[in-house]
Amino acid sequence: MSPFALTRTLPADATAAALRADVAEGLTREPKQLPPKWFYDARGSELFDRITRLPAYYPTRAEREILLVHAADIAAATGARTLVELGSGSSDKTRHLLRALTSLDHYVPVDVSESALTGAARALLAEQPRLAVHALVADFQQGLALPSTPGPRLVAFLGSTIGNLQPGERAVFLASVRAALEPGDALLLGTDLVKDEQVLVRAYDDPEGVTAAFNKNVLAVIDRELGADFDPGDFDHVALWDREHEWIEMRLRARTALTVKIPALDLAVGFDAGEELRTEVSAKFRRTGVRAELAAAGMRLAHWWTDHADRFALCLAVPEPVPEAGRGAADRGGR
Ligand code: SAH
Ligand code: AVI
Repeated sequence: MSPFALTRTLPADATAAALRADVAEGLTREPKQLPPKWFYDARGSELFDRITRLPAYYPTRAEREILLVHAADIAAATGARTLVELGSGSSDKTRHLLRALTSLDHYVPVDVSESALTGAARALLAEQPRLAVHALVADFQQGLALPSTPGPRLVAFLGSTIGNLQPGERAVFLASVRAALEPGDALLLGTDLVKDEQVLVRAYDDPEGVTAAFNKNVLAVIDRELGADFDPGDFDHVALWDREHEWIEMRLRARTALTVKIPALDLAVGFDAGEELRTEVSAKFRRTGVRAELAAAGMRLAHWWTDHADRFALCLAVPEPVPEAGRGAADRGGR
């Protein structure tokens, strides 16, 4: 059986401290908002997996199609020995990539959800005996401290999870990915594409109500971790298309005026009737925009593959050489 290691890059109390800070800041500002990473406790990760199987939620199927059709092209373009996957979740689609990348011997899944990492590792270890799996419980927005595995490295960021970052956060994140890449390495990036509004809204407001349950799960996380008394039944799930920003927003709308107590923060938060808390943005992309964001971070769009219906794109980006004058001493170190 393949070797398995799991590393927590953050001290045990860092996650709790980050949640407290995000909730204190996000629920006392106008309009109220929370970062989407707090959806993903064990139940949230499970609900997300159910979302990926919903008829209305096309992104997972579309990206899987691209991976199946183009796995050999991706393998030919990279020859990676290490696959680092950010926000790996169940690693389910990744299997297609792992099978195709014949030169691969190390897989480094990175996720905030420890339950998703251990569940994924269990399935992978049985199927991929030649792989060493080194899972990292880490926040990919807090810098990428990756284990020293052999190159070339392919860094995969699938599922259009990049769309859950705000534009400014995306720039910081892509720069941190670029800083982790050496010549010969590459980034494989999944991006959901702009399309018909009805198709988009339905993907985030499915008739089965699974996305609504996923959205409300963040309240259950705050109740459990911070002793709050949110009642998910007091809120309605809202999904809307923001034409200007070209993103879907998920919100929770208070059904009546109410006050929520959060003892761990010594805080009482008032909601007006109809007041909305933004819980997620899910940006949709165009090829020109992706190319520009990659270029701004020092990467070149080398390949662009889409599914048969042009709903989703998977692209391969390579690091552009850093001009000698712009390189700091730290950049010159080896892997
Ligand atoms: N890549 C998978 C899962 C996408 S769901 C797919 O394509 O289906 C998004 C995943 O990213 C979840 O597993 C969640 O726990 C993880 N995630 C979200 N924000 C994160 C962050 N800031 N750092 C690390 N992982 C994060
Ligand atoms: C993980 N992420 C890309 C999903 C998305 O589509 O933005 C999360 C999600 N939110 C609602 N449904 C799925």
